[in-house]
Amino acid sequence: MSETTVSDVQRRRRRSLLWSLALILSLSMLLPTLGYVMAQTGQEVQAQAQQGFGPERATNPRSDMWRGAREGQTGFTTQTGPYVTNTMISNVGETWRQFRMGPLITYGAWLLGAALALVVLVYAVFGRIRLEHGRSGKTIERWKFYERCVHWFTAGSFVILAITGLSLLFGRSVLIPLMGREAFAAYAEIGKLVHNYLGPAFSVGLLLLILMWVRHNIPNKVDLAWFKAGGGIFLKGRHPSAGKLNGGEKVWFWLGVFVFGLIVSISGFLLNFPIFGQTRETMALAQAAHAITSLLWIGFFFGHAYIGTLGTEGALEGMTTGRVDVNWAKQHHDLWYEEQIARGARPQPAEATTAKTGAGAGTVGQPSH
Ligand code: HEM
Repeated sequence: MSETTVSDVQRRRRRSLLWSLALILSLSMLLPTLGYVMAQTGQEVQAQAQQGFGPERATNPRSDMWRGAREGQTGFTTQTGPYVTNTMISNVGETWRQFRMGPLITYGAWLLGAALALVVLVYAVFGRIRLEHGRSGKTIERWKFYERCVHWFTAGSFVILAITGLSLLFGRSVLIPLMGREAFAAYAEIGKLVHNYLGPAFSVGLLLLILMWVRHNIPNKVDLAWFKAGGGIFLKGRHPSAGKLNGGEKVWFWLGVFVFGLIVSISGFLLNFPIFGQTRETMALAQAAHAITSLLWIGFFFGHAYIGTLGTEGALEGMTTGRVDVNWAKQHHDLWYEEQIARGARPQPAEATTAKTGAGAGTVGQPSH
């Protein structure tokens, strides 16, 4: 009996030893494969989550973090500043960046191209508006010296601001491929500096221009008739009447100089001096308003510069010498001419005045209003 018991115990021990060895062996082979199984299952869960039908807790934690950042979730930071420093990514800034690099530069380029094309088309169809009765040989004062100074200061700074501003806007898409990164970086650094310093000076010029000429730009019934006659561009030899400034010039003054000037100056001021607690939203809005309005303004300016130079014979000398030919005055601003004569202005021979006009002289005895 006792012999049987001993051998039974030994047999059971041997059997359990064998089972243990088998279990250890099989587990040591199976366990490493579990990694593959888990990875496979994880991918499936992730794919399901991406398709939108997986369990909610199975989303990619990295996606969750970026989604939160894009939605503007706030965290904690020890940094302090005027902006939303505890927000990892400023949504409004990212939205502005996408707008700037996409629609703004695409439609902006189209807008400027269309404005240039329109000017070329007007020139091709209507040609230069000539002095119908040639030159009279006599001139009358149109713009005083100080008026011309303010005009040319404003015009000059506008052109420089437009060139530097467009260079910054279209730098990456147009200038870098043309001149290379390093040359562009050097140019952009100077351009930005010029733009930032000249901007406020330009706004002062605009303010003076507005104060100086607002009285000539009050709309009246004569302007309505001028618009109805399409500015006379289609009526050969029959010019609609106009005072000192015609309806078209008044649109340039109110929309081009006053409204656009106000928007561009205020937004430029906010961008140039970010020390008044402007938020990121305010800055992005200011950037958008500044860029969109400037593009519209530059397009409009092409029209003004064309009409003042190539488009109209005899107009530019008014703004360079201060005097215009009497026939030009009668053709384009008949009511103003009559008013000047009624006030006692006496036209003078062109030769007598050209020698004196350079520095704004030649205006003696000429009331100009
Ligand atoms: C550089 C290109 C420019 C040229 C060639 C030019 C030319 C002229 C000329 C010839 C006149 C006189 C028109 C007349 O006697 O009836 C004039 C008037 C005027 N210009 Fe310019 N200009 C230029 C740029 C500018 C700019 C950039 C501004 C303003 C931002 C401006 C604002 C005005 C205003 C307000 C008048 C008075 C007429 C009106 O109220 O529309 N000009 N310009």
